[in-house]
Amino acid sequence: MPATGSEDYWSLVKRQFPLSAGLIYLNAANVCPSSRPVLDRHQEYLRDFHADPSFQNRAKYDKLQESLRSKLAAMLGATPDEIAVTRNTSEGSNIVVNGIDLKEGDEIIVTTHNHPSSFDSWKVRAQRAKLVVREAPVPVPARSKQELTDSITSLINPRTRVLAVTHVTSTTGNRYPVNELAAIARKHNLWYHVDGAQTFGALDVNVKRIGCDSYSGSSHKWLMGPLEAGVLYIRKERIDGLWPSIVTAGWEPNPKTARKFEVYGQRDNPRLVAFEAAVDFITLIGMARVEERLRQLTTRLKSQLAASPAVVMKTPQDWELSGGVVKFAVRGKKTGELYDRLYGQHRVALAQTASGPSEGLRFSPHIYNSMEEMDEAASFIKRLA
Ligand SMILES: Cc1ncc(COP(=O)(O)O)c(C=O)c1O
Repeated sequence: MPATGSEDYWSLVKRQFPLSAGLIYLNAANVCPSSRPVLDRHQEYLRDFHADPSFQNRAKYDKLQESLRSKLAAMLGATPDEIAVTRNTSEGSNIVVNGIDLKEGDEIIVTTHNHPSSFDSWKVRAQRAKLVVREAPVPVPARSKQELTDSITSLINPRTRVLAVTHVTSTTGNRYPVNELAAIARKHNLWYHVDGAQTFGALDVNVKRIGCDSYSGSSHKWLMGPLEAGVLYIRKERIDGLWPSIVTAGWEPNPKTARKFEVYGQRDNPRLVAFEAAVDFITLIGMARVEERLRQLTTRLKSQLAASPAVVMKTPQDWELSGGVVKFAVRGKKTGELYDRLYGQHRVALAQTASGPSEGLRFSPHIYNSMEEMDEAASFIKRLA
């Protein structure tokens, strides 16, 4: 067994993923591959379910869902009663958007880089209920925590009821100072929601340390779990006051716990077993170690990209202000062309933003990437620049 945290160790981790040979997969911020243990467990339970879909055989899934819940709670520093097993970040954030009691004229603060699930969703609710959505501008790249908190505090007034931010943005990879914002939200008695799509499974998140009221994440991103599975944390004191968006069988017994937000009728039980396997896999490595590896990978990538005079970095270099998302543009080059050439000629899978202040290419590496892949990706950019 190689020494924990050594390059040999990470190479062993990489071998657990069935990624195609030669593919440099740098799109964790969108979708991650699952490891073989997760895929095997998913298949095993899919077969089991369909071999015997009887109530008797399926009875075990209730226990498995509770075991998943306990592990999610332990991973995020919450209690099991504060955890709902959702279908993704979008759903979790929408449960919050539609569940909070608000009245005409109440105000919600979002940032211009919030994902539509915590931005357009608020605008739709505002249109229906005559609320006001205020948008905090986002500096690209962010220069300090103070700059980010100031952009939000300047919008707070006596009608403000909610603050909804993204922990690490998918647009330019800014990390919001979520702990500092919690103190501000508490002072003004706001519901404080954190979109954790880019941090759940990437950073060593502890919701109690953050001090948020709600936090949502997806399994298929950094956690490297199955598609259409997610987590929603709701702080204990907030559960009773939040309305569920969907009410069906299973609601009655659990009105005082976050379980009331996950009753959608028949669930895809084998998928949730795979979700648990993904939590097991990442927990075995350890979230602190995963976060540290992400810091190493992105630091190597960012320092090489920033050294090229043609590259305009959109993500802060400082780890405290960033996460696993690395965004940049190349002067004088069309983003779309670079995007196509990187995959077509060099087999680098990435994401792009075609226009606007966040325009550029996005690399988001994860623990299945090697340091050599960081060097290769950066050298392709230098060659194409
Ligand atoms: C910041 C952020 N929030 C929410 C989402 C939505 O995630 P999902 O499609 O898993 O619901 C994404 C997806 O990329 C995201 O980047």
